[in-house]
Amino acid sequence: MAIIEVRGLSKTFMTKDDKVEALKDIDLTVEEGDIYGIIGMSGAGKSTLVRCLNYLETPSKGTVSIEGRDLGKLSGRQLRDLRSRIGMIFQSFNLLMQKTVIDNVCFPLLIHGTGKEEAKKKALELLETVGLADKKDAYPAQLSGGQKQRVAIARSLACDPKILLCDEATSALDPQTTAGVLELLRKINETRGITIVIITHQMSVVREICKHVAIVEEGRIVERGLVEEIFRHPKSRAARQLIIDGKDPDEWSAQAETDEIFDVSSDVIPGLQSGYTRIRIVFGGEAAFEPIISAMTVKFGIPFNILKADIKPLRAVSTGEMVLEFSGGKQTQEEVIGFLQEKELGVQVIGYQE
Ligand SMILES: Nc1ncnc2c1ncn2[C@@H]1O[C@H](COP(=O)(O)OP(=O)(O)OP(=O)(O)O)[C@@H](O)[C@H]1O
Ligand SMILES: [Mg+2]
Repeated sequence: MAIIEVRGLSKTFMTKDDKVEALKDIDLTVEEGDIYGIIGMSGAGKSTLVRCLNYLETPSKGTVSIEGRDLGKLSGRQLRDLRSRIGMIFQSFNLLMQKTVIDNVCFPLLIHGTGKEEAKKKALELLETVGLADKKDAYPAQLSGGQKQRVAIARSLACDPKILLCDEATSALDPQTTAGVLELLRKINETRGITIVIITHQMSVVREICKHVAIVEEGRIVERGLVEEIFRHPKSRAARQLIIDGKDPDEWSAQAETDEIFDVSSDVIPGLQSGYTRIRIVFGGEAAFEPIISAMTVKFGIPFNILKADIKPLRAVSTGEMVLEFSGGKQTQEEVIGFLQEKELGVQVIGYQE
């Protein structure tokens, strides 16, 4: 069942002397229990999009429905109730610095009328869940970044949310701390069935825990789908830059729009000799590199030059990626691609020199 349903969403900000179209005609469906990633450049509209999901920002056009209820049709009170069931965490943690860890976690409960004792009991349970029960009387200033984010996560769980929105929740953390926080989010998703929306600049975060991803560019979703699928067959220019070139969204170049992945023959690839093709191959779980390479060498009678071979986790499953170069012109190129596609491997041409 779709827990979040966005249709035709646009958001325009009017400032004194300017008009910013932050979101343009966004459609988005998030299924219950999913971990959904939203990735894009700075200024692409990601935060505006998550803020529209709980109506902290009112859309200029279009609808947002949570569990089938159109947020635009709710009263102020209904909206506040619903919002309390949508947790949010941020890059900057947003903890109350004058309150202890446990009081931070109690805070939303007390606001919603839970008694003091009950709130304390629940807060302590939540601190246990995030592994910080021993820090309950500490102040946020005495905690590391990763610990602060764990407190923020515990607080976001206080009102038993159905959805957790994370806006760059790991961007301020080092890779190891990030891995710990992502692991905690995965556990929360699994044990509590909470749907999680993750906004990030980092493809590594998407690969690590997201099932689906949407790529946002200049207020539009340019590509979306299963993370595995997009990793195997990136189609949009943004997805190619993210996955093939390994660029952060903020390094995406604004060069000519092209969604055509096989027509890159005009690109000058440094070091690529005449008649050579460079391809990228993606391997699923158990497939191995060597047998494929030796089979191709025998079949085509040419050497395959391995430029890169890498195994990375994709939602805990290791996935291989390899970049190869070979000669033989267009005809060999087509035959090699045909051979690899028959083996059901993801394959893209990333360069060809006439
Ligand atoms: N309250 C506002 N008033 C005017 N313009 C705004 C407002 N909020 C956001 N914008 C503009 O909308 C666009 C999208 O901003 P948003 O914060 O959603 O981007 P983002 O993708 O979250 O970026 P970042 O990765 O830097 O956080 C930007 O051009 C921003 O300047
Ligand atoms: Mg943002």
